[in-house]
Amino acid sequence: MTLRPRRSVLYMPASNQKAIDKARNLPCDAVILDLEDAVAPDAKDMAREQAVAAVKAGGFGRREVIIRVNGLDTPWGEADLAAAASVGPDAVLAPKVNDAGDVARYDARLDHAPGHTKLWAMIETCRVLFHLESTAAASRTSRLTAWVMGANDLVKETGARLTTTREALWAPLSLSVAAARIHGLSILDGVFNGLDDPDGLERQCRQGLEFGFDGKTLIHPNQVEIANRVFAPTPDEVNFARAVIAAFALPDNAGKGAIRVDGKMAERLHLVQAERIVAVAEAILAA
Ligand code: COA
Ligand code: MG
Repeated sequence: MTLRPRRSVLYMPASNQKAIDKARNLPCDAVILDLEDAVAPDAKDMAREQAVAAVKAGGFGRREVIIRVNGLDTPWGEADLAAAASVGPDAVLAPKVNDAGDVARYDARLDHAPGHTKLWAMIETCRVLFHLESTAAASRTSRLTAWVMGANDLVKETGARLTTTREALWAPLSLSVAAARIHGLSILDGVFNGLDDPDGLERQCRQGLEFGFDGKTLIHPNQVEIANRVFAPTPDEVNFARAVIAAFALPDNAGKGAIRVDGKMAERLHLVQAERIVAVAEAILAA
């Protein structure tokens, strides 16, 4: 499977046609056309029609296009899933998934969707925090390939207070990353609500990177450039990764577990990380 860069994944209400049009020219790696919480009840049907029309019209270039549907426990969920399945975006994002059973329920609605349409799931309820591993394992029997943290809903459900450094979410964030990685899922960090706080956004992007996230979900075009910069491997990281790969490829090092590269110890586990860094860098260059 080719690696897709997912540094910057921009939400927009699918009721906002101007935002959808704008997204076709923004340097984000993916766009999420939201039918759920960013859309008022009266605008749900219009938003669904605009999301379908946008996917049909295309023009998003290399960007992945995802439709976030309303929950199956709402009046709009079934219609959203039927519409999304028929138009075949890169992924359908299911909100408020609680367990593997929920993954199976959303997946079943995609039975007739094109093969390229994957299932993504929001990790944003208290309940799923106690089923993370089994929910990720549902990827073996479904289209599930990625998770998206829903910081605002987690805070709402727990009653926690959200700060830029997010102490209250450290456990959910790191356990979600671990569960996702067990089953090879991609995982994206939650949004930063500050629209005019580039320093706060940058700090939170960096924190997400340090936690192991592949990228960040975003809410405004002015957040894209910062996420792209923070989540891209630095030239130094790429150079060192290439040096590690080259060193392990030398016949002299074939039988060795640990070697010296540019004054640092490199083990075979670092080779795996190095290959990932180079793959991410090449995916960004190809984008
Ligand atoms: N995606 C694409 N374009 C966007 C955008 C987004 N998420 N947010 C704003 N824009 C566009 C606006 O349409 C506007 O375009 P224009 O200059 O052509 O008119 C431009 O960027 C500037 O927007 P601005 O005036 O700064 O934003 P706002 O104050 O009108 O809106 C929000 C602020 C938060 C309501 C808006 O950014 C938004 O809807 N964000 C996404 C919310 C969402 O999807 N949440 C769900 C997941 S948490
Ligand atoms: Mg949510």
